[in-house]
Amino acid sequence: MNDVFDPRRPEVMADPYPIFSALRTTNPVYWSPVLKGWVLTRYADVRTALHDPKLSADRITPFMESLPPARRVAMSGLERILTRWAVFVDPPVHTRLRGLMNKAFTPRAIEKLRSRIGEIVDQLIDRIAPRGRMDLIADFAYPLPATVIAGMLGVPEKDVGRFKSWSDDLAAFVGGAQATPQKYERACYGLSEMDAYFRAIVRDRRRSAPRDDVIGGLVAAEEGGRVLSEDELVATAVLILFAGHETTANLIGNGMIALLNHPDQIAKWRARPEIAESAVEELLRYDSPAASVTRVAKEVVTYGGRRIAAGDRMFLMINAANRDGEQFKDADRLDLERADNRHIAFGYSAHYCIGAPLARLEGEIAFTRLLARLDNIELERSDLEWSDNLVLRGAKEIPLRFTAS
Ligand code: HEM
Repeated sequence: MNDVFDPRRPEVMADPYPIFSALRTTNPVYWSPVLKGWVLTRYADVRTALHDPKLSADRITPFMESLPPARRVAMSGLERILTRWAVFVDPPVHTRLRGLMNKAFTPRAIEKLRSRIGEIVDQLIDRIAPRGRMDLIADFAYPLPATVIAGMLGVPEKDVGRFKSWSDDLAAFVGGAQATPQKYERACYGLSEMDAYFRAIVRDRRRSAPRDDVIGGLVAAEEGGRVLSEDELVATAVLILFAGHETTANLIGNGMIALLNHPDQIAKWRARPEIAESAVEELLRYDSPAASVTRVAKEVVTYGGRRIAAGDRMFLMINAANRDGEQFKDADRLDLERADNRHIAFGYSAHYCIGAPLARLEGEIAFTRLLARLDNIELERSDLEWSDNLVLRGAKEIPLRFTAS
């Protein structure tokens, strides 16, 4: 089918920005026949929608209800977990789950991870540096957040290798642009593995002495106030693993591609490492790993003069909003020292990313050390393959050459 914005096309996945720009100007609230939903591309509309109580974050229940009964039964394990993810529920359930998660993500708890993140980054670079080449994704960007999250959750680091295939299985379902039966089977498989893995850990934790990690904290909260069921505990552990893993990996991947396309900006960062904080914010704005989020209208709403019916899906295009010239000066320019950078890469309002401080810290340490320890970084290929995913934006592999400094 012909569609102005068809995210299944590889060239659109590789560079959606020209189409976003056209849509923002000519059709900012656009009905997509391919996505069967509304595509919002202006910063003001996307930000308003993220804060709109008439829109629901629950896009799982309507999807499950639309399935033939036999398929829905086959996917009941997936439904049990995803309908308990904070990111897919509305108040009051969201408020309760978020309150419990907040306890584990305090600024102090994140700052305590600084030195451990530095160690992991250095160990990964020690391994890569002598080789003179790497796949940035497989050799660095994936293992870093996976190892950090394993530590936070309190699960063995040796299991990190399994996280990637589970997350990949689930990512295709959560944000895949194409609906295929294989995608559902993969997601069910990956999730059933994660469910069994975390359920065993949760049960073990309930029997053993309290531990100072995220699962320990969530178990203690459950036992104190009986506020988290076992399914909610398992779902929350899976969510934290999934949400913090691929996104942070793609911050490093997308950010490195942006930097390599702007040698003047790399030179600036190398010369002045103190700009790291604003530089990471700009990389997040310029090409965010969370490209869009979805909402469902609970009642009739009007956006951009278009009437959106109850039950309609709305795709809030974060990456289009973050390039809106009405909000950002020279929006298509990468400026690592950009001031007043109110991007919405981490969302906005009630569902604002709980892991934002952690992702920022990982990004700052990762780029600062990569740029300090590797010179002459170059892409080995320019025809990168991008994930077929509307929500999670990232290249599958990023082969790099470099010299160790
Ligand atoms: C660069 C990395 C990251 C990006 C771009 C990102 C982006 C986002 C966005 C846009 C949302 C809002 C979703 C919505 O409104 O529907 C979100 C929510 C969330 N993120 Fe992140 N995220 C990142 C890293 C992390 C990390 C490291 C963690 C945890 C370790 C994490 C955990 C979560 C959780 C649990 C939510 C749900 C919050 C809620 O619904 O209350 N994220 N993230």
